[in-house]
Amino acid sequence: VEVMLQPTPALTWVSTGGILDLYIFLGPNPQSVIRQYLQVIGYPTMPPYWSLGFHLCRWGYTTTTTTRKVVERMHNASFPLDVQWNDLDYADKRRIFTYDPWRFGDLPQMVKEFHERGMKYILILDPGISSTSPSGTYPPFDHGLKRDVFIKNATGNILIGKVWPGPTAFPDFTYPETRKWWEDCIRDFHSKVPVDGLWIDMNEPASFVQGSVEGCPDNDLENPPYTPRVVGGQLNSGTICMSAQQNLSTHYNLHNMYGLAEAYATNRAFTNVLGKRPFVLSRSSYPSIGRYSAVWTGDVRSDWEQLRFSIPAVLQFSLFGVPLVGADICGFGGNTTEELCVRWMQLGAFYPFMRNHNDKPNAPQEPYVFGQKAQAAMRSALNLRYSLLPFLYTLFHHAHTSADTVARPLFMEFPTDPNCQTIDRQFLWGSSLLISPVLEEGAVDHLFFFSLGQYLLLPAPLDTINVHVKEGHIIPQQEPALTTTASRRNPFFLTVALSAGGWAWGDLFWDDGESLDTYEMGNYCYVTFIAGESQIVSDPLRLNGALDGLILGGLQVFGVPSSPHYVLANGDFSVCFFTQVLTVTSLALPMSEVFTVQWAL
Ligand code: GLC
Repeated sequence: VEVMLQPTPALTWVSTGGILDLYIFLGPNPQSVIRQYLQVIGYPTMPPYWSLGFHLCRWGYTTTTTTRKVVERMHNASFPLDVQWNDLDYADKRRIFTYDPWRFGDLPQMVKEFHERGMKYILILDPGISSTSPSGTYPPFDHGLKRDVFIKNATGNILIGKVWPGPTAFPDFTYPETRKWWEDCIRDFHSKVPVDGLWIDMNEPASFVQGSVEGCPDNDLENPPYTPRVVGGQLNSGTICMSAQQNLSTHYNLHNMYGLAEAYATNRAFTNVLGKRPFVLSRSSYPSIGRYSAVWTGDVRSDWEQLRFSIPAVLQFSLFGVPLVGADICGFGGNTTEELCVRWMQLGAFYPFMRNHNDKPNAPQEPYVFGQKAQAAMRSALNLRYSLLPFLYTLFHHAHTSADTVARPLFMEFPTDPNCQTIDRQFLWGSSLLISPVLEEGAVDHLFFFSLGQYLLLPAPLDTINVHVKEGHIIPQQEPALTTTASRRNPFFLTVALSAGGWAWGDLFWDDGESLDTYEMGNYCYVTFIAGESQIVSDPLRLNGALDGLILGGLQVFGVPSSPHYVLANGDFSVCFFTQVLTVTSLALPMSEVFTVQWAL
């Protein structure tokens, strides 16, 4: 079906036949429309905590030595980094489930070292299975043949396309035996290289020849009576033949779901292998993929326009039930500039999924390659993100359990404010944090829309990204560290923005960050914080031990009218400062118990 958006509130649907099921979600407001939609397609999965940290990738980390050096340089320059990635470079002749014996011979050892640092490791896994290795030398293909897992062409032979390794066969993930074979491949590979996440790319499925190495037959599926405006002008351009045969149906009927089927198979297989929450990142997407996978927005260019476009791209995936989404920070194609990369790292610090990724021929764009000023700006953006991870994780909990959005367009929070309908240069985290990035070259301020009807110009020199807390909210934070393994042990602190009436509310979801179904099994902590009448009280509604040993180290309260005479924390006098903001430091209040912080005016 081709759907065209008309200028009036109208859509034009073009279809060559078949059955159309239309669901209409009546809301009444945008957030309830999304919730109703997700009640049909499924709520998003709960990501592992570490996957909210910073990810660093590029095509062109050509050896384990190079890859180790990247991690070393990040660490030495004090940049938080949770996950180091490798692109195709690791694989032997670009064949998945292998690793290059010369350049990546000690890959298992490298992954072990990363784990010892409290880091994680992810590599790429394209679906195409190389079909030209001598028989008996490449088990994924040999076993796949035996188990009959590959998509067939119209005459019943295995369809061969071309992807990075050259000629490849395509697994049919709609066939149950394929999913078992895929799990066996993942289990076997994981027993050698204990990867923490899988990056499933080229899963549209993409192919560098039209249809197959033999072309496609001329029939109604390849050349239907109407062809929508697809890249390449034909349905089989850049992919496999529409008349190819899969277990469930023709590829014509299943094409758009190839990535979803692969994400489902990968998520299930990896869950079984790990016994923990899996992390999967997919390029292709389809409704309900948020139950199984994160998504990135593909091969974006390193330019200012793409920086700006990334905001609506990320927000759309929020609406589609894929909260864990981001664009390649600093851009994938072409060379970045230092200024662009700083601004992109600042914006990227507020993508729910934060990964810097780069194409092979381009100038490097890891944070440490830039000048000291740029590095300082990137470091502070990363530290700000890391400090906010408890809040971000709590938002993911609400996405998983209540179909709330994480990165949220302003119109969702303020549906009756017509000015908010078109804002695509600012966005929210949840309902309380407003992110106002700089998106223009050379700009050092940012036009800021104030919802009482005023535009304000805020200073935003290169080291600054403006972030605002909405009145009435409490944001749970934690001292940042170089990994989430470390930051998760650090003291918490609260940022409290009192409402005009002196009230605020916030919450924290906390668990071990990686076990399966912690919410469903009740294996989590949930604490609410309430501020009002010159005090803040915590209310641990549920405790399972995950917060044991963790403390509240301090808090900041905005909206206290004057300097308090003293501050009491659980009844004891505490250190505090007042410069418009009340800052209380050096606390050590157990997070797993009720605490009270009071100030006397
Ligand atoms: C595709 C991916 C890109 C990746 C490249 C090589 O272009 O979108 O992220 O680096 O393939 O694997």
